[in-house]
Amino acid sequence: MVSHRKLSTSHIIGIREMSEEDIQKILDYAKEMKNNPFEYSERLNGKILALAFWEPSTRTRLSFESAMLRLGGRTIGFSSQAGTSLEKGESLTDTIIMLAGYSDGIVIRHPLRGSAKLAANVAERYGIPIISGGSGSQEHPTQALLDIFTINERFNRLSGLNIGLIGDLRYSRTISSLLFALSKFGRNRISLFSHPSLGLQEELHYYLTNTNLELIQAKNLAESISELDVLYVTRLQKERFPDPMLYNEVKGIYQLRTALLNSAKPELIILHPLPRVDEIPYEIDKSNHALYFEQAKNGVYVRMSILDFLIGS
Ligand code: NCD
Repeated sequence: MVSHRKLSTSHIIGIREMSEEDIQKILDYAKEMKNNPFEYSERLNGKILALAFWEPSTRTRLSFESAMLRLGGRTIGFSSQAGTSLEKGESLTDTIIMLAGYSDGIVIRHPLRGSAKLAANVAERYGIPIISGGSGSQEHPTQALLDIFTINERFNRLSGLNIGLIGDLRYSRTISSLLFALSKFGRNRISLFSHPSLGLQEELHYYLTNTNLELIQAKNLAESISELDVLYVTRLQKERFPDPMLYNEVKGIYQLRTALLNSAKPELIILHPLPRVDEIPYEIDKSNHALYFEQAKNGVYVRMSILDFLIGS
């Protein structure tokens, strides 16, 4: 086992404020864990992880749970307001104070931007790490870490890549976090495929124009697919649309067509944070380009790495 160094941060709130060095340590340790997953089965013996999910989740919650169990720890938590005091109107702050007393680390998913930061400010007083599992449309940092882990695993680099992002680039927090992460690793060309009303958030776009990333507002996937190394597909975040009419206007326009892949490079990988709705037809799952289920599986190793760094000793 490689020497277990600490990160420079005690919480994972957003990728934007993480150092490249911390990100690299998490990726390196996750790679070791993927190669020898059973060597780490006692790292978090006796520790408890709290999973506080105010929004639906399958992969993030269960892969954190699996990661904790694989490290020898245990989990507590809730995944809906039903059956908890949230139904009675308990605040985020009070809930975090309680969980800080019950656990050694807290993963939080909440619909509001800023929620993970607020939770970290509260938990800091009790010396308990907070890990964001998604804060509204703002950030989803651990998803970005597993996304770049998957890209790096395939290409052995995180720069000099042509990456296409398609779908809902505005309300997908995975897009913001992925772009913040990529902006720390040299030059990459990012082609953006989206309806004008679902383009990148203006603030994010502005921030990224001052980084190494080359952003291109692409028109047509069919014309550009032959240049791409990575195609990152997203679901329309229906629940975050301010206007249901907009959803009806744009739904279905970014479905991948299998025939498009005929002009793709053989090494093109297709990623998707999942869940998919109808963006990727099932028949594409069989193609060598489809890496989204491997990507989801990598979530366990990346989250094992994060948990060990933040909770392990
Ligand atoms: C994503 C999320 O919650 O932002 N899901 C996930 O964690 N893999 C993407 C989505 O819901 O579309």
